Amino acid sequence: MTPQQIIMTQPDDWHLHLRDGEMLGTVLPYTARQFARAIVMPNLKPPVTTVKQATEYAQRIRAALAQRSAEQNIAFDPLMTLYLTDHTSADEIQRARDSEVVQALKLYPAGATTNSESGVTDLNHCTKALEAMQKNAMVLCVHGEVTHQDVDVFDREAVFIDQVLIPLRHRFPELRIVFEHITTRQAADYVQSASGPIAATITPQHLLYNRNALFQGGIRPHYYCLPVLKREVHRQALLAAASSGSPKFFLGTDSAPHERATKETACGCAGCFSAPYALELYAQAFASAGALDRLEAFASFHGPDFYRLPRNTRKIKLSRTAQKISSPIAAEGGFLVPLGFGEQLDWRFEGFA
Ligand code: DOR
Ligand code: ZN
Repeated sequence: MTPQQIIMTQPDDWHLHLRDGEMLGTVLPYTARQFARAIVMPNLKPPVTTVKQATEYAQRIRAALAQRSAEQNIAFDPLMTLYLTDHTSADEIQRARDSEVVQALKLYPAGATTNSESGVTDLNHCTKALEAMQKNAMVLCVHGEVTHQDVDVFDREAVFIDQVLIPLRHRFPELRIVFEHITTRQAADYVQSASGPIAATITPQHLLYNRNALFQGGIRPHYYCLPVLKREVHRQALLAAASSGSPKFFLGTDSAPHERATKETACGCAGCFSAPYALELYAQAFASAGALDRLEAFASFHGPDFYRLPRNTRKIKLSRTAQKISSPIAAEGGFLVPLGFGEQLDWRFEGFA
């Protein structure tokens, strides 16, 4: 029987884009009201490549939060990442390790997605940095797609596993890797069966939608993200993995806000803004699999366990209350359209229990 409410340990978001400046101030409260911590992506313009930049960015996040939620009972901890480049030095990795701020490095293959121009062109350029990361047990978050134009966009993740990830793990078997926002059966199977320190995050959109959502009655840019939505068999494999209870899979929304005009255009940006209803969306997905009893471990336990951080202790509540995702959010002189806009949800986040 479906419960009327869920009380669970407060979750964390292990993959999040917060942007900067005015947009940061707009989007941050949506994450901070649901999640205790988040792994904050470094793909700003210019990217966050040094510990100094990450420390300053963390200060801007804390300042934005203090400004927006002074009277509210909110304690949100940004966990920072550095953007790995062809030039990241072993010294920078050491500084990251010694800092209290940086939790992980992010690998963007150059050209794979939004602001990835400074990404890695060849992992052989990163040998020193990867050696230092492996030695210091630092986590590498991986955007797992090859970028060659001759590989079909729907195949880029599966090809990445064979051409990049397996050779990388062969060279650095102790490197702690999070395969970010996995989208395919191949990725779920690979992570589940691989030995050694590898885990994966899964977004709400990849649990709830298949690629038909992009073309339902016309082109729908608010369902466009990278890696792109895949076929239904892949969605089912991801839902099975997320709700399997395996500690190798955990929550990472990849909430990635873009102002509406930059999505509803001839060459629209990739990214789904899922922060406003993130937990409700995950609850919807887990309920559809009859696995609500496994939501807490996926959302609140497996992530901190992999990152070797303490689990949260506060509890939050979701009630079984229907609501419609109906309001765009004012931002940058325009609007942000939340993921699932116009759709009905069965759950509502009610704050701390
Ligand atoms: O859809 C995406 N949007 N995928 C990414 O990898 C980056 C993100 C963004 O920053 O907008
Ligand atoms: Zn992302």
